[in-house]
Amino acid sequence: MPFRPITLGASSLGDRGGAADVAALADALVASRFAQIDTSNNYAEGRSEQALGAALARAGGLPDGAILITKTDYDPVTKVYDGDRVKRSFEESLTRLGLERLPLLHLHNPTTMTLAEATGPGGAIEALVGLREQGLVDAIGVAAGTRALVEDYVRTDAFDAVLTHNRYTLVDRSAQTILELAAERGMTVFNGAPFGGGILADETGTATKYGYRPASFALHGFIAKLRQVCEQWSVPLPAAALHFSLRNPLIHSTAVGVSSLARLDALGELAATQIPEGFFEAVEKLGTPPLTAND
Ligand SMILES: NC(=O)c1ccc[n+]([C@@H]2O[C@H](COP(=O)([O-])OP(=O)(O)OC[C@H]3O[C@@H](n4cnc5c(N)ncnc54)[C@H](OP(=O)(O)O)[C@@H]3O)[C@@H](O)[C@H]2O)c1
Repeated sequence: MPFRPITLGASSLGDRGGAADVAALADALVASRFAQIDTSNNYAEGRSEQALGAALARAGGLPDGAILITKTDYDPVTKVYDGDRVKRSFEESLTRLGLERLPLLHLHNPTTMTLAEATGPGGAIEALVGLREQGLVDAIGVAAGTRALVEDYVRTDAFDAVLTHNRYTLVDRSAQTILELAAERGMTVFNGAPFGGGILADETGTATKYGYRPASFALHGFIAKLRQVCEQWSVPLPAAALHFSLRNPLIHSTAVGVSSLARLDALGELAATQIPEGFFEAVEKLGTPPLTAND
């Protein structure tokens, strides 16, 4: 299935605001012209899927052509992540969303099992492949943040898609190997968190974290230089960050976190921003960004 270039990330849906705000945002995500949403079994402890399911019910189902992607998660109490847990997680997701099948199901953050367990008999991957063989999902993916872990899972050749996050941005290129491994295998690549979780969309200059962790002094320095280039070229920093991902031919979709109606409106403007020719060459002249992560 061809996926859309921008994915609306629903990781914070259900986490912020009152019930009416959550419902309004879920309705807007479902009705959005971007028409592709990424959620997970464990986002906001299931409330992201629940809010989306309620919005789908109000809308009379998924709009024509719209795509909803979710992910399996390990058992929140026991941390078990075997084949049975994958099947249960998928069933929970279908129930919350009110859907019967999905175009893509990711294995999310496989951190509580070894790769040998995941690939072994009765393991998570066998279960995912089974769901695909039964026609309950069209495709299976792996979605995680640790570079080496993602590379290992991509190398299993079991997956149709991969989601990497915070590792291919204006200030981090460490997902390059993942992008190349995925391209060799004809996999669909989702690049999550093009703003590094927010700092690369922050025009106030007050954000302190990159990839959900405190940003180093060197990284703040590099981002300050990026801001100068953006000012010289009259390109808003968030537009630069978004288009840096959108322009890479090895990336099929960029997953942006949308935490409010205002952020959804702003995303439309950022996506429509024309980036002047030569801008990204000027960014490249800043040199190699400081290391943001060594995993
Ligand atoms: N393991 C995984 O599978 C995984 C991991 C990470 C991400 N993802 C996917 O990728 C999506 C995006 O990740 P993310 O939300 O962590 O990171 P992100 O897209 O890099 O950053 C999103 C944050 O940037 C800020 N922002 C967005 N637009 C803005 C604008 N126009 N102006 C100023 N600030 C703006 C918002 O922060 P505030 O609203 O708080 O101000 C927003 O929550 C997730 O929702 C999820 O779907 C998946």
